[in-house]
Amino acid sequence: MITIRAYEGKKDREALIRMYKAFSPGDRTLGLPPDNVEDLKKWIENLSKSGISLLAELDGKVVAHLAAVPEGSEIHLMLFVHPEYQNNGIGQKMVSFVVEQLKDSGYERLIVTTDRTNKKAIHVFEKAGFIIKSVGFEYEMCLPLFF
Ligand SMILES: CC(C)(COP(=O)(O)OP(=O)(O)OC[C@H]1O[C@@H](n2cnc3c(N)ncnc32)[C@H](O)[C@@H]1OP(=O)(O)O)[C@@H](O)C(=O)NCCC(=O)NCCS
Repeated sequence: MITIRAYEGKKDREALIRMYKAFSPGDRTLGLPPDNVEDLKKWIENLSKSGISLLAELDGKVVAHLAAVPEGSEIHLMLFVHPEYQNNGIGQKMVSFVVEQLKDSGYERLIVTTDRTNKKAIHVFEKAGFIIKSVGFEYEMCLPLFF
């Protein structure tokens, strides 16, 4: 069973690093996750300093990480599912979870940036109600948070 819970810093760091080590170069998107352990540690810690940092666990194993970092009236989201556990609905569960959590947060918009060739991510976020705000080499996808 999938459990979604807050990332708890030191206690979870090694398990999260282990998850990210499973990403091969072809699994990375927009240069992320960082491909060396030192940068990975700094990136994870920076993401957990403000906003929201969530883990999904399957039978006690960390299989996904979602971080949402505030920027003014917006909050910017990143989501990574362990490559061996993708296409099992985990990404969609995490998006629904964070949208529910942000409903009364006061932020105006939830933003995610994707590579424009990342059809799966675009599908997942469009299905959750995000719309493509600007188009370039990357897509900025936006979900208004006024319900
Ligand atoms: C994008 C990502 C977060 C999605 O998580 P996931 O757990 O694999 O996704 P889910 O299983 O919840 O949903 C996948 C959906 O995409 C669909 N899909 C799969 N491959 C697809 C493709 N090539 N094109 C379009 N849709 C596709 C599936 O059919 C499913 O949709 P459905 O439920 O309507 O049938 C995950 O693949 C990932 O971590 N990718 C690498 C990092 C990334 O790109 N993050 C997003 C930007 S920060």
